[in-house]
Amino acid sequence: MGKLITFEGGDGCGKSTQLRLTAAWLRSIGKEVVETFEPGDSALGSQIRKLLLAGEHAPVPECELLLFLADRAQHVREKILPALKRGSWILCDRFSDSTMAYQLAARHLDCKSNDLAPMLKFAECGVSPDMTLWFDLPVEIAAQRMLLRQQAGEKSNRLDDEAISFHQRVAAAFAHQAESDKQRVVRIDAAVAIESVQQQLMAVIKERFAL
Ligand code: TYD
Repeated sequence: MGKLITFEGGDGCGKSTQLRLTAAWLRSIGKEVVETFEPGDSALGSQIRKLLLAGEHAPVPECELLLFLADRAQHVREKILPALKRGSWILCDRFSDSTMAYQLAARHLDCKSNDLAPMLKFAECGVSPDMTLWFDLPVEIAAQRMLLRQQAGEKSNRLDDEAISFHQRVAAAFAHQAESDKQRVVRIDAAVAIESVQQQLMAVIKERFAL
């Protein structure tokens, strides 16, 4: 079996750049690597991604949750499971912790009367990350980075445009998740230079997987 490493954190935390650098490093030491992301890395998923992020029709929170989970089930069965069976290293930009943070916590869906954790498990189709890297970055710094990106012409998505209080709830949920699952989730200090972030990643991956 291969390995699944998920990259998680708030918008603007730099995880996508780090994912690319990590893939290049793992390939340089002879590993077969699949780079993937959620939502949208399947033919059907790319359509779901448009529905979710384009902002043309804003879904109600319950619908938003179900669309992210629908995308995940398709992604796991179509891409992640076959790659795991081939023995690949799969680096996945966002997975269930994002749903936990954005839909369950920030949108307040997982309240006293709802226990939605089993639904998240259902959508994973039996797969769970071997390791999750949580890119911890203060929300104010992330917001500044997002502003710079937008000034450079990058288009923001419907969730990027949520209020700062929403992003604070997302950040608090990731912190809580890291605290409650220390075995799986590793905190990465994302407030330092790109090279230092990459050094941290390489160190924790080498240690965890005895590379
Ligand atoms: P994307 O443009 O892929 O950016 P990034 O991951 O670099 O922030 O945006 C994906 C958005 O979808 C992001 O704002 C987080 C959100 N999201 C959820 O709300 N729930 C989820 O389960 C997933 C996978 C993503």
